[in-house]
Amino acid sequence: MSAPSVLVLGATGRTGGAVVDQLLDAHRGGELRLIAAVRRPEAAAAFAERGIETRHIDLDSAERHGLGHIVTALRDVRRVFLASGYDVRMLSQAKAAIDAARLAGVDHVVHLGVHAAPDTTVVHYGWHQLVEAYLAQSGLGRTNLHPTAFMQNLLMPVMSDPQSAVLTHYIGDAPTSWVDTDDIAAVAATVLRSPEQHDGQSYGLGAEVATIGGIADVLTDLTGRAWRYEPKEPGEFLAAVTAAGADPVYMDCVRNVFERTGEGSLPEAAATFDTVERITGRPATSLRAFLHRHRGHFTA
Ligand SMILES: NC(=O)c1ccc[n+]([C@@H]2O[C@H](COP(=O)([O-])OP(=O)(O)OC[C@H]3O[C@@H](n4cnc5c(N)ncnc54)[C@H](OP(=O)(O)O)[C@@H]3O)[C@@H](O)[C@H]2O)c1
Repeated sequence: MSAPSVLVLGATGRTGGAVVDQLLDAHRGGELRLIAAVRRPEAAAAFAERGIETRHIDLDSAERHGLGHIVTALRDVRRVFLASGYDVRMLSQAKAAIDAARLAGVDHVVHLGVHAAPDTTVVHYGWHQLVEAYLAQSGLGRTNLHPTAFMQNLLMPVMSDPQSAVLTHYIGDAPTSWVDTDDIAAVAATVLRSPEQHDGQSYGLGAEVATIGGIADVLTDLTGRAWRYEPKEPGEFLAAVTAAGADPVYMDCVRNVFERTGEGSLPEAAATFDTVERITGRPATSLRAFLHRHRGHFTA
């Protein structure tokens, strides 16, 4: 029997890229056949250099050209990791991916969603829940990953300035939950290697709760420089990221999350779970370990 093919959508992104990294040994060992989906043809070379097949998939193209080429790109694929970006088009992108997966005979989809209360009124959290309801009715095997805030956000220019040792955030002094995307990927990789054991499950992912001031203190300790936190208004976040080209519809939802986290009306923002240890057998990455791993970024 040939090794099952696993296709990663979002392979050029933070979480999808980490899923590729985590599955590379299983690919090289012949346990599975890893395929990276790329929407920009120039992104293929880096995967080819690592011995990973790529297939060209632009989920937005379904609107104009239908599903045919996506179904073709999913030929002989058994398992799919589905991550989309920070854009309201995540709804149509995920629908196209799920429809094409069903038509191509895929067995199992692992969806990257978000942790939220079941009756959340946060708009983009609801989008993820609608995607997962659509996935549930598709008949495909499925596992949903529900992370809290990515530790990797702290590396973004809008949140950390290593030159002046300043962390910027938009949630005041509210404690919030953090998870390393490498840990999300480790759980995803475990599921993609044995999906039957995880069919129908949704896994919360959040390792540790901290305030931004608390994170600045850890950075001060790790780097020997006096890091400080400069709280800003959520509207300033929206202005900065949309000026940089981000989708204003999606980012206004994030602004709302920051506002509600700051005022304390979003308790799920501070949830933690034992998922990483339970699924992978090793503890989740702590904030201190994450910041230590990335100390090069924080040491100007
Ligand atoms: N940041 C957080 O704290 C957080 C917390 C919880 C949940 N989430 C969820 O995590 C997801 C984002 O994960 P991430 O940070 O790993 O994403 P990311 O780094 O922004 O990567 C997005 C990936 O999607 C690909 N993509 C975008 N549009 C596409 C299209 N039309 N067709 C095919 N591929 C397309 C991108 O390809 P290109 O490289 O070509 O652009 C990229 O590979 C979102 O759904 C978000 O709601 C985020």
